[in-house]
Amino acid sequence: SWTPDTFVDTTVADLKKKIGADKVILGLSGGVDSSVAAMLLHKAIGKNLHCIFVNNGLLRKNEFHDVLKQYEGMGLNVKGVDASDRFLDALAGKSDPEEKRKTIGRVFIEVFDDEAHMVEDAKWLAQGTIYPDVIESVSATGGPSATIKSHHNVGGLPDFMKLKVVEPLRMLFKDEVRRVGASMDMSPTLLGRHPFPGPGLAIRILGDITPEKVRILQEVDAIFINGLREWGLYDQVWQAGAMLLPVDSVGVMGDERTYEKCVALRAVESTDGMTADWVNLPYNFLQKTSNDIINKVKGVNRVVYDISSKPPATIEWE
Ligand code: XMP
Repeated sequence: SWTPDTFVDTTVADLKKKIGADKVILGLSGGVDSSVAAMLLHKAIGKNLHCIFVNNGLLRKNEFHDVLKQYEGMGLNVKGVDASDRFLDALAGKSDPEEKRKTIGRVFIEVFDDEAHMVEDAKWLAQGTIYPDVIESVSATGGPSATIKSHHNVGGLPDFMKLKVVEPLRMLFKDEVRRVGASMDMSPTLLGRHPFPGPGLAIRILGDITPEKVRILQEVDAIFINGLREWGLYDQVWQAGAMLLPVDSVGVMGDERTYEKCVALRAVESTDGMTADWVNLPYNFLQKTSNDIINKVKGVNRVVYDISSKPPATIEWE
């Protein structure tokens, strides 16, 4: 019968045989799938695995730095590429959700292709594709592989897409991927991370994106997510995040009426993201979180909690 330990042993042996002394390129997203795929390949071929971790400027607060450190700590041969400005410049003035997604997909491919060219003589592209992605063809939970898959028809095939593809997690479900990661002693924090969409905070900032809006939302999101961890609620939630709404809401400061941003918090229970229920978070927690956000994040004067289930309300607001 299937066990994570035997899966790791047989997969590592297969990868060694298949890849030999070739070089492999892999895009890390910070998510569970690409990280576990990287670890398997790392065990099989060591430094011949060249990982690329792109900062699109739309990640959570400190995420690029923290996750990069974590990857380095795991011994991975990883290059962090901070392309924030390139993404934010390309997004400037765009407010249509699908246009924002396409822009991010296009810039990602450009950045990734540039980086892939720097790995001389690479033969393989590794991806963290899991079984549900194979069925759906476009991953719901994202990461570079989903981005690549859904955008490869824009302006011809980039060179890295002409590489041979290796997908060690192709036959696994998410819970199996987590167990495989655990059997390789990967950090429970990394393996237990909530899903995060490929376009990141771009689809949680309703309307157009500016560096200032990204900064505000990163602060709000960090207070919410760290709070969930501190209160022991993080693992009871399938996915959580904050949305920056395109409305200025009225507030009072002394005798003055002020107009500042409103944010919505969302936390859902789900098994696959296809349907979802909002989570009945404790009022005490919501109260503390709202106070923290309004007191600490300049520019925000109102916090609301999203109590809508999917369907019809999607998890993301865009
Ligand atoms: P919705 O909003 O459709 O989200 O209920 C379901 C799941 O998919 C994620 N999501 C995305 N992931 N690119 C991604 O990689 C996207 O454009 C995208 N849109 C939504 C969402 O975070 C949730 O996990």
